[in-house]
Amino acid sequence: MAKITTGIGTSHVPSVGAVIDKNNEQDPYWKPLFDGYQPARDWIKENKPDVAIVVYNDHASSFGLNLIPTFTLGVADEFLPADEGYGRRQVPKAIGEPDLAWHLAESLITDEFDITIANEMDVDHGLTVPLSIMFDKPEEWPCKIIPLAVNVIQYPPPSGNRCYNLGKAIRRAVESYDKDLKVAIFGTGGMSHQLQGERAGLVNAEFDQKFLEDLVHDPVGVSKKPHVEYMREAGSEGVELVMWLIMRGAMSDKVKETYKFYHVPASNTGAGLIVLEDEQA
Ligand code: DHB
Ligand code: FE
Repeated sequence: MAKITTGIGTSHVPSVGAVIDKNNEQDPYWKPLFDGYQPARDWIKENKPDVAIVVYNDHASSFGLNLIPTFTLGVADEFLPADEGYGRRQVPKAIGEPDLAWHLAESLITDEFDITIANEMDVDHGLTVPLSIMFDKPEEWPCKIIPLAVNVIQYPPPSGNRCYNLGKAIRRAVESYDKDLKVAIFGTGGMSHQLQGERAGLVNAEFDQKFLEDLVHDPVGVSKKPHVEYMREAGSEGVELVMWLIMRGAMSDKVKETYKFYHVPASNTGAGLIVLEDEQA
């Protein structure tokens, strides 16, 4: 049987991808951030998953105002890094796991989560930056990747509660797959940031740190947080954090917080990283 063994929560700041691609990690501005990433990178090298379900958001790269699916599961053989206006990132393509992905699609939809299915989808910094944060610069990503894109760009995004319950449905789906696979789930995006308007540049470290704490110890409480609270406290783009609840919902009540790191500022955001191990796996 397949098992969810690991949950990763991480920001997806695009400039972090550029810093990695240009080997600028030792730059004084970025060094503290990358020093903070290192223990998680060391840990995952020793605890490699077979497959990672990466919950992320597309930033008008593969979708746009013409098409706004709330949840999209990638079932393709592979996913190329998207061209976000300056060419594709020179990172490995993500190799899919279509058999498990189709099982997830069937299980989720019969479990009443009417997700969209993508046979073709380029993946932008929302997915590639979290992989770079955890896996650095390998020739190939060390595991298969199943992308799950969530609309948090165009109003209305899904509620925190819906995301949390989707995570639970993903757990049921994974546990009903009959191959022995170690599955990691990534919840990505955020943390506090606002890229537009009068409050552009807003970062709320207190909110972010409480979110990290509560996500582990009081996920049901976090799942009740309304969108307006994310907007008010964590800025207009802080609502990306609902994606971390999908990851948390897919973990059991018995989680071990293996690593937690928070750093301000990273570009225009507070950057968080959390590694959870499922003690029921
Ligand atoms: C920034 C952060 C994001 O999450 C994003 O999608 C785009 C830009 C930033 O900090 O610049
Ligand atoms: Fe973003």
